[in-house]
Amino acid sequence: MWILGIDTSCDDTGVGLVRDGEVVVNLVAGQVALHEAYGGVVPELASREHLKVLRPLAERALAEAGIGPKDLSLVAATRGPGLIGALLVGYTFAKGLAWALGRPFYAVHHLEAHIAAAWPEGLAPPFLALVASGGHTHLFEVQGLGKYRLLGATRDDAAGEAFDKVARLLGLGYPGGPEIERLAEGAEEAVPFPVPLRGQEGYEFSFSGLKTKALQLVEKGLPKPALARGFQEAAIAHLAEVVLKAVQDTGHRVLLVAGGVAANRALQERFRRAGLEVHFPPKGLSQDNGAMVALAAWRRHRAGFPPSPLSLGATAYWPLEEA
Ligand code: KG4
Ligand code: ZN
Repeated sequence: MWILGIDTSCDDTGVGLVRDGEVVVNLVAGQVALHEAYGGVVPELASREHLKVLRPLAERALAEAGIGPKDLSLVAATRGPGLIGALLVGYTFAKGLAWALGRPFYAVHHLEAHIAAAWPEGLAPPFLALVASGGHTHLFEVQGLGKYRLLGATRDDAAGEAFDKVARLLGLGYPGGPEIERLAEGAEEAVPFPVPLRGQEGYEFSFSGLKTKALQLVEKGLPKPALARGFQEAAIAHLAEVVLKAVQDTGHRVLLVAGGVAANRALQERFRRAGLEVHFPPKGLSQDNGAMVALAAWRRHRAGFPPSPLSLGATAYWPLEEA
C-alpha cells in the first residue's frame, strides 16, 4: 500500500512516499535563501514558493519510487498547526489529488506526524514524547494513537527557535541548530549558562532567558565556540531535566524525542545516558518532511480511523489533544 504524504506547514515543501509503513522516498525543498534577507520566514513568500515547487516535487517523488498517481492507495497532508497560507497549498493539493483519484484522504496533525517519525514499529503506548522543533516544544504522554495528554510546553520561544536566534547573535547561518552544534563541537570549553526553570512545579520549558544571556555574553566579546557550547549544554540540560522529572512522576520508561532539534547529537547522547528506552527519528525524518505525514496516515489507517472528509479545512491552530 502506497501512501503519499505532504507537509507545507512552514517553509519546507515536503513530499514523502511510504509503502506498507516503510519510507521509500522523502523529498524536502527548503526555502532558506528566499527568507534569508528578512531574518525570518515571510508567510506569504513561503506560500507562493510552495505553490511553485509542490507539483514538480510530487511528480519527482513518484518518478523516484517508480510509480504513478494511480498506484497511490491513500493521500495525506498536514492540516495544521502551521502558517495557514502555507498549509493551504499542500493540504488543498492533497485533497484535490485524493478526490481526482477517488482515494481516501487523511488530514494529519503536524505534531502527530513528528511523533510518528520517531515511533518504532511494534512499540505500544503509553510512553512520553518530546517534540522539539522551530515552532514547538511540547511534552506529551502518548496514551495511544490519537490519545495525547499535554504535560507541558514552552512559555516563550521554542527550543529550535532559540538555537536559530542564538545562531543569529553569533553571526551564524540559518537554520541555527546545526550551525551551533558544529561550533560547539569544536569548542575547548563552555561558557556556563544558567539552566532555566530549575525546581519548577510542572513541566514547562523556557528558552528566552538563554537567548538574553547569549546576547549579554556576545556583547562582552566572549569566544563564540565556547558561547555556542555553553548555550547548547544549557538548552539540552533544560530539556532533559523537565523530561526526566516527568519520567519520574509518571513512571513511563519509554521516551520518543522528535522534531528538528532531535537531530542534535549532544542531545541524543544526553538522553541515551538517561537510563531510559529512548527513540529518535531516523536520519532525514526529524525535520519537517512529507514521509512523517504519510507514516502518521499509515498508522491511522491501520488502526481503523476513518478518512477525513474533504470538506474539512486547514487550520493554523489545532491542539494535538483534539486531533
Ligand atoms: O521540525 P522542524 O524542521 O520545523 C518545525 O516544525 O519547526 O525544526 C526546525 C528546527 C530549527 O529551529 C532548527 O534550528 C532546529 O530544528 N534544528 C536543530 C538541529 N537541526 C535542526 N537544533 C539543534 N541541533 C540540531 N542539530
Ligand atoms: Zn515541524
